[in-house]
Amino acid sequence: MRKKIIAGNWKMNMLPNEAIEFIQKLEPLVTDTNNEVILCVPYTDLFYALLTAQQTNIKIGAQNMHFEEKGAYTGEVSAEMLKSINVEYVIIGHSERRAYFAETDETVNKKLKSALKHELKPIVCVGETLESREAGKTQKIITTQTRLALEGINSEDVEKVIIAYEPIWAIGTGKTATAEDAEESIQAIREEIKKIYGQEISKRVIILYGGSVKSSNCKELFTMPDIDGGLVGGASLEPIEFSKIVNYEK
Ligand code: 13P
Repeated sequence: MRKKIIAGNWKMNMLPNEAIEFIQKLEPLVTDTNNEVILCVPYTDLFYALLTAQQTNIKIGAQNMHFEEKGAYTGEVSAEMLKSINVEYVIIGHSERRAYFAETDETVNKKLKSALKHELKPIVCVGETLESREAGKTQKIITTQTRLALEGINSEDVEKVIIAYEPIWAIGTGKTATAEDAEESIQAIREEIKKIYGQEISKRVIILYGGSVKSSNCKELFTMPDIDGGLVGGASLEPIEFSKIVNYEK
């Protein structure tokens, strides 16, 4: 049985004092869940978030990292640096990074390898634009992104990778993919993993949905057979709303 994961992506929001207050408010609301609760926070919040989340079931992640080990890369943060302060998860290849910061399938693959090397748990994002969807290219785009992201990753490591299917047209727009559409795309991603690694492994890889997830639509998405939870943007900025998504079964 795959575990359900509910991950918040705060993007460029929340000052340290807000992060601390958020985690203190969220903690009692999610103590009873069996789902994995993750908050991916800005670099400047990481340390405060990690301290506040100690001895709780809330896990902390970063939103990006560089693939090189160290060196003259002004402004960048390596996987080892994240690991050194006990960050557990890292988002890789979010569509906003692909669109605004020139991330490519190649840099995503390099980052993934470095994250795995340093025992960070990567959340790798794939997703199609509205244009590609309307042209009927959704499956081709997302399966290609998946294959290129995983190039050179062995079958032992691939099970540590979390994939987030985030259709770009659904991010921050209030337009959610229907549960059936999201399921179909996630099945296609799982099928691609099966082609590379075989059926058993493909059944064990966790695949999330992201794009305008909120408390009012999460249950129908998360109860689809192949959808293992969500990567939540806007609705992860308010503790009560986010806790309702974490506790979607209740
Ligand atoms: P929204 O939930 O705000 O649409 O953002 C989704 C997202 O990009 C999560 O990574």
